[in-house]
Amino acid sequence: MSWIREGELTILERFCANIIKAGPMPKHVAFIMDGNRRYAQKCHVERQQGHSQGFDKLAQTLRWCLNLGIREVTVYAFSIENFKRSKEEVDGLMDLARQKFSRLLEEQCFLNVCFAYTSRHEISNAVREMAWGVEQGLLEPSDVSESLLDKCLYTNNSPDPDLLIRTSGEVRLSDFLLWQTSHSCLVFQSVLWPEYSFWNLCEAILRFQMNYNALQKARDSYMEERRRQQMERDQAYVTKKLQQEGFASHGDSWRRRTLLQKCTAMREERIQGFLQALEHKRADFFERLCTVSA
Ligand code: IPE
Ligand code: IPE
Ligand code: MG
Repeated sequence: MSWIREGELTILERFCANIIKAGPMPKHVAFIMDGNRRYAQKCHVERQQGHSQGFDKLAQTLRWCLNLGIREVTVYAFSIENFKRSKEEVDGLMDLARQKFSRLLEEQCFLNVCFAYTSRHEISNAVREMAWGVEQGLLEPSDVSESLLDKCLYTNNSPDPDLLIRTSGEVRLSDFLLWQTSHSCLVFQSVLWPEYSFWNLCEAILRFQMNYNALQKARDSYMEERRRQQMERDQAYVTKKLQQEGFASHGDSWRRRTLLQKCTAMREERIQGFLQALEHKRADFFERLCTVSA
């Protein structure tokens, strides 16, 4: 029996889900699932029990997301900083992760798990990958851009989250998806993660809907600015080329247009080549890692 699909929504939940679904819905939701230890303390149970209930809450939350038509969920399950916790707690979390995630990931494909993750580590890694591309002659320094950095992140296959939810009342991101959430709706809720309810999720979605227009506007104007900057860089490159060829800086308009098309096509080709090389490099790395740990 499926862990996520077992158990239906109540009639009241289904009714409210349908009302919410009439408004704009987030396609991708990210969760910082925080508050397991405070929950354990509050309920006078072992810390490991708090973490275990936290994992079970994730399965339940995924079911609600599925019912609400949310297509993708990303969760912060364990940060690199969390390795600093006691060995007993880290070992316990690793055991739970092995058991519960293998079950969750087996049965559905809309969950991304950030484990042993921090965003600054991810971003600096992406910058190192681009530097490697330049060093290998696969990229020109002028190819380095925000959109290329997007493609070097671990999240390159996903759209940015529309909504990020952190539970437990803490109002910080704790180094989670810093790059990807610059135009997301951030919702901080005081409920402890193992106590998260369908109604908490509805409240967060309503807050997203209330801010939808402003979020959309910010996202659109950012994308427009990004396109404008790329066009400016390409124009500057063409002007330099024309000057080298002895044309006046505005050049002959036919020559300028041809050079601009060529320059864009060559950049795209370089970037494709680099991304393919990067994929091979990462696949090699994981293969070596699996061989070492086998
Ligand atoms: C989140 O809950 C789970 C992990 C970080 C693994 P915490 O363990 O941080 O619990 P609190 O925030 O201390 O209550
Ligand atoms: C963030 O929670 C990481 C996860 C939820 C996995 P923490 O509880 O570890 O974060 P800080 O230490 O309070 O910022
Ligand atoms: Mg915490």
